[in-house]
Amino acid sequence: MHPHLRLPPLYLAPMAEFTSPPMRVVCEQCGAQRTYTEMVNAEGICRRSPKTLFLLETFSEERHVWAHLYGHDPIRLAEAARFVADLGRFEGIDINAGCPVPRITAQGAGSALLNDLPRLEAIVREVTRAVSLPVSVKTRLGPNPQRPTWQETLKRLEAAGARAITFHARYTSQGHTGTVHLDTLHEAVSATSLPVFGNGSITDPATAKAMAETGVHALLIARAALENPCIFTFSKGDPHCLALQHLRLELRYRERAQAFSRLSPEEATVLTFRRHLFRYFKGLPGANSLRGNLMHLHTIDDLLRAIAPFRPETPTSLPTQHL
Ligand SMILES: Cc1cc2nc3c(=O)[nH]c(=O)nc-3n(C[C@H](O)[C@H](O)[C@H](O)COP(=O)(O)O)c2cc1C
Repeated sequence: MHPHLRLPPLYLAPMAEFTSPPMRVVCEQCGAQRTYTEMVNAEGICRRSPKTLFLLETFSEERHVWAHLYGHDPIRLAEAARFVADLGRFEGIDINAGCPVPRITAQGAGSALLNDLPRLEAIVREVTRAVSLPVSVKTRLGPNPQRPTWQETLKRLEAAGARAITFHARYTSQGHTGTVHLDTLHEAVSATSLPVFGNGSITDPATAKAMAETGVHALLIARAALENPCIFTFSKGDPHCLALQHLRLELRYRERAQAFSRLSPEEATVLTFRRHLFRYFKGLPGANSLRGNLMHLHTIDDLLRAIAPFRPETPTSLPTQHL
């Protein structure tokens, strides 16, 4: 941790298609004190869809992972939560009430729940009743600045038995950009006995400190961790070493998908890892040409060759376990 900062715990925020076990392990090793799975469809869990259940895989070295679920129907979410709790691998269950993606909101899930707060309350009530794990919600301040819903959300979640709430301190209408409303976040913290976690554009000690000053109990970081997993200690890891570690873990994860995947573990690893790869080297000389070349990388050897120029002269080591 930065020597002059006293901050609440720092968690890796959920990111669909990114916060799979490999990224979560890298971030835990780099100091994240909690992680969340990708967004997992409660209906898919209830139907035991292999693809959906694959998103609930964990690695044995993970210590503090929460399952992040989305859905619309309180009863189905409760059923899914029971399945997840019985796996015995998750510390808690987090419900998505903030995702603005049309594919999700069209199902009445994600940020659509901010237009139907009684339903969100019913979801949390049913899920809390179904499992003994703590249940939290990740949401936003409201659909848009003209319609803040955070006060009613807090009241309903308190009544329903939620154990914490994360605010991405923006409105749904803002997407992932624009003002992070720290004043409103501070008001929310003061208005409830629930632990409130804060999220939104933390990139360095200054932005973390500003959000911590609202009084939140934890800080969630998403995008900055894609470029530098060591953000959780506000240090800069060696990108080559981190990318290699992540790649090894990705291959290990994809080997578990054999039963239902059309792709070989190597093909699946390469496809997935191209999404992560260039982010590690952003801003370094040669990063742009790496990004431009991604489509031509087809094998693990291609990936290794592509990142070789970024290898440091004096290799550093991560607290890794070897595969
Ligand atoms: C690629 C991507 C995927 C995301 N997926 C989810 C998700 O599945 N569930 C969720 O609650 N938020 C999701 N988010 C939002 C982040 O958790 C976070 O709230 C947002 O990015 C703001 O935090 P940041 O500024 O630290 O990135 C996603 C964000 C990104 C960039």
